[in-house]
Amino acid sequence: MRSISFVVALLFALVSSTYAWPEIHVLEARKGGKGNGTANGNSVNRACRKMAKLESITALAANQTKLDAMVAKGRLNATEVEAIKAKAANATTELQTMQGNTTFVTECAVIGAHQKVVGQCKAMKSLAKLSDLANNATAMAALASKKQLNETQMAKLQEKIGNATTKLKEMQANTTLTDLCASQQKAKAGDASASTSATQAQSTGGSAAKGAAAGLSAQSAPYIFVPLLAGVFAMLL
Ligand SMILES: *[C@@H]1O[C@H](CO)[C@@H](O)[C@H](O)[C@H]1NC(C)=O
Ligand SMILES: *[C@@H]1O[C@H](CO)[C@@H](O)[C@H](O)[C@H]1NC(C)=O
Ligand SMILES: *[C@@H]1O[C@H](CO)[C@@H](O)[C@H](O)[C@H]1NC(C)=O
Ligand SMILES: *[C@@H]1O[C@H](CO)[C@@H](O)[C@H](O)[C@H]1NC(C)=O
Ligand SMILES: *[C@@H]1O[C@H](CO)[C@@H](O)[C@H](O)[C@H]1NC(C)=O
Ligand SMILES: *[C@@H]1O[C@H](CO)[C@@H](O)[C@H](O)[C@H]1NC(C)=O
Ligand SMILES: *[C@@H]1O[C@H](CO)[C@@H](O)[C@H](O)[C@H]1NC(C)=O
Ligand SMILES: *[C@@H]1O[C@H](CO)[C@@H](O)[C@H](O)[C@H]1NC(C)=O
Ligand SMILES: *[C@@H]1O[C@H](CO)[C@@H](O)[C@H](O)[C@H]1NC(C)=O
Repeated sequence: MRSISFVVALLFALVSSTYAWPEIHVLEARKGGKGNGTANGNSVNRACRKMAKLESITALAANQTKLDAMVAKGRLNATEVEAIKAKAANATTELQTMQGNTTFVTECAVIGAHQKVVGQCKAMKSLAKLSDLANNATAMAALASKKQLNETQMAKLQEKIGNATTKLKEMQANTTLTDLCASQQKAKAGDASASTSATQAQSTGGSAAKGAAAGLSAQSAPYIFVPLLAGVFAMLL
């Protein structure tokens, strides 16, 4: 039963996996435990997360279409919209200062690229677990009975599993990614040296900016994506 709960958790964790980079990195940094380097890495990290958050809230505050849609869906109310706009307005100067520091922006891009890969490796693991369900009637039946899924919900679950399999194959086709995940796994098993991670992040080179962009768009304020997750829950269960 425990493994079933795990799979259920995975189902929803997948949805949030793209949002995960800041937390993951904090954990990693803690594990790293390399004295000064880590402490410094942590503060840059924190600052990068802050910039991402400010960028995200600024973009949201400027996007009336999106705000209106969120209000319409009940994810935000008028008071919260005003609060977002006020927060964005207040953060303008601070954000511009951060964005004006190219050294810092570059550092954040490298961290973001690394985190993107870490997130993708995790997502692949989760997708594999889900995908495995397709070949395990016992586990499927246990899941259905535990969650008391009706036929519609079962069909949806099957579809999700099918989608997970498709997505997994797609990701596995990217050998750059699978290689990075493999060496990450190795680094974790052996000495998880910070330099390995840094090299990996660097080696993704051109995608650094893209990775950062993914981090940024993912960095929506928690009160935005928590209801979103809840919505997915409601949909399936
Ligand atoms: C950390 O840095 C300080 C100065 O920046 C230095 O005095 C100290 O020895 C360093 N500690 C370690 C563990 O490297
Ligand atoms: C505003 O948000 C919508 C999604 O809700 C997006 O499609 C659109 O590109 C955004 N507009 C701008 C200017 O970012
Ligand atoms: C908007 O939502 C917040 C909490 O999400 C709540 O405290 C506040 O009363 C709401 N405001 C209105 C006008 O509904
Ligand atoms: C405005 O930003 C400053 C820091 O930049 C912060 O100390 C202050 O609390 C913010 N005010 C509001 C209303 O968010
Ligand atoms: C720019 O960012 C770097 C790296 O985070 C930092 O060491 C430096 O102090 C910053 N420069 C200014 C002017 O804030
Ligand atoms: C199927 O799932 C059950 C329960 O999660 C597990 O104990 C079993 O090992 C799985 N069988 C296969 C062939 O993976
Ligand atoms: C299955 O359950 C969902 C949610 O509880 C419900 O909306 C739906 O109508 C049910 N479908 C059937 C065929 O019972
Ligand atoms: C499965 O993927 C298809 C195509 O991308 C999508 O339309 C559908 O909503 C997905 N189904 C589920 C349950 O996620
Ligand atoms: C493969 O994955 C890497 C790491 O995430 C990424 O930088 C690259 O763009 C991907 N390649 C393709 C073809 O999707």
